[in-house]
Amino acid sequence: MKSFEKIKQIDKQYYMPVFNRFDVCFTHGQGCKLYDIDGKEYIDFGAGIAVNCLGHNDAELVNAISEQAKNIIHLSNLYYSPIQAECAKELLKDTDFDKVFFCNSGAEANEGAIKLVRKYYYNKGQNKPVIITAKNSFHGRTLATAAATGQPKYSQSYKPLPEKFVHIPFNDINAFKDAINDDVGAVMLEVIQGEGGIIPADYEYIQEIEALCKRSGILLIIDEVQTGMGRTGKMFGYEHYGITPDIITLAKGLGAGMPIGAVLARGECAEAFAPGDHGSTFGGNPLACAAALVVIKRLKNGLIDYVKQSGEYFWDKLQSLKKYPAVKQIRGKGLLLGLELNSDIVKYIIDKMLANCYIIIGCGANSVRFCPPLIIQKNHIDGMVECLEGILKEVK
Ligand SMILES: Cc1ncc(COP(=O)(O)O)c(C=O)c1O
Repeated sequence: MKSFEKIKQIDKQYYMPVFNRFDVCFTHGQGCKLYDIDGKEYIDFGAGIAVNCLGHNDAELVNAISEQAKNIIHLSNLYYSPIQAECAKELLKDTDFDKVFFCNSGAEANEGAIKLVRKYYYNKGQNKPVIITAKNSFHGRTLATAAATGQPKYSQSYKPLPEKFVHIPFNDINAFKDAINDDVGAVMLEVIQGEGGIIPADYEYIQEIEALCKRSGILLIIDEVQTGMGRTGKMFGYEHYGITPDIITLAKGLGAGMPIGAVLARGECAEAFAPGDHGSTFGGNPLACAAALVVIKRLKNGLIDYVKQSGEYFWDKLQSLKKYPAVKQIRGKGLLLGLELNSDIVKYIIDKMLANCYIIIGCGANSVRFCPPLIIQKNHIDGMVECLEGILKEVK
């Protein structure tokens, strides 16, 4: 195997420098553990940014993918696929949604949702081009989803951008009321802003958004790319809010590491696309669907309940860190938790944790995020919090 230095050198020479990589190179994983090129063991509280929900090298997942690979890896969406059909059925079972479209990523799922909204109004002969989104939101990096994202840093160098995205302050119902007019076709929100810093929407805010959407004929899209698939202790994050969105989008944990995204819609929205309106070569291919099917079944067979319990345990544990002056706030739900820190010590904390073999990630202006595999155990949580406490103690 090549040495780490050699790999870094190749990466620097050949890979476009869009990522600020940490100074570590991982070669394999097992459960909640990752191993670097020298065999050093780390506990993973990042899960590939909320993706590896079943941890690493999960036997059932690996077996399902391997068996599927022996049958067929890829099949054009021009043909019927038994595993895609089963995956669609299982994903929609017991949900509020009638139909799904599979794609490959979160951005693509949101792009698909935006197109679905446009097509819905086109079918009705109505012109409602505006989509309201929240400031500080994150919806992806394609041109349309970067324009939808309420953080200029993701779009300012890519103008001209697709138009008609209006960004309003998050958790401010009056701002939403002020933004409503006849041009507004939809609102797209995260119930917990993930990249934005683990900032949960207020219960009343989301309730009122839904009521106003119904009254004004505006479609409600919830971006569940990060909050979906059991991450918050329910299958979808919006379920904590007693609402029924028209459209939700999924990706990340849906394939536990296999690239798959999804747009789920109900009622008339679910019927808006006709043949030829949208598509994807790879979207929902047999290999990705085989993985998603394992995830869906595991979540429904007890993993969601486990997330709820371990999320509560984790939350209680984090409270012990409140006493440190560097900790401003603890936020989140289930296994999507974050600490907002005073001042700019985020990088220092993440680097120190990594040096101590704990992987955590940053988000927002000055927060750290914990989004471990959903199978994380209490002893991992105890160890991580203890390590973090040791570092916080020393921060002035
Ligand atoms: C809420 C949300 N939406 C969309 C995306 C984009 O997903 P992807 O990186 O798979 O395109 C992300 C990724 O972090 C996300 O957190």
